[in-house]
Amino acid sequence: MKKMKLAIGSDHAGYELKEAIKSYLDEQGLAYEDLGTHNTDSCDYPDFGLAVSEAVARKDVSGGILVCGTGIGMSMVANKVPGVRAALCGDTFSARASREHNHANILVLGARVVGVGLALEIVRTWLAAVPQGGRHVNRLDKISAVERKYGRE
Ligand code: RB5
Repeated sequence: MKKMKLAIGSDHAGYELKEAIKSYLDEQGLAYEDLGTHNTDSCDYPDFGLAVSEAVARKDVSGGILVCGTGIGMSMVANKVPGVRAALCGDTFSARASREHNHANILVLGARVVGVGLALEIVRTWLAAVPQGGRHVNRLDKISAVERKYGRE
């Protein structure tokens, strides 16, 4: 993603990986807004998942990164927000495809599933991948149609 500002968020289980991702983004000179949580006190992942997802849906930022223990809860929350396409990735192949094919606008990571080294490589891959057009856009239009069908556009 070029000229990107990210929103980033986690729960307590994802806090340390979120901090590691922030250090990586700092090293790369990439801008981000940290929407919390800001410590390892127990908290509820939907609060932070919603904050990041709404920032992405409003286009306040060009993309988001969410981290919880498994990545599953954050994915569930994020994909409830119309316009969000959140991808839970545990490998670089999926991370690249989630951008190229699915135009994912939020990357979700499970801090209890992937180590820091792999997580940062997934972030690097996801940020570098370029969304492809053609047949993929037709399919994304069909996802938008599902949102409209259920009154969630
Ligand atoms: C927190 O214990 C954990 O449930 C949460 O981080 C996440 O894995 C939920 O999906």
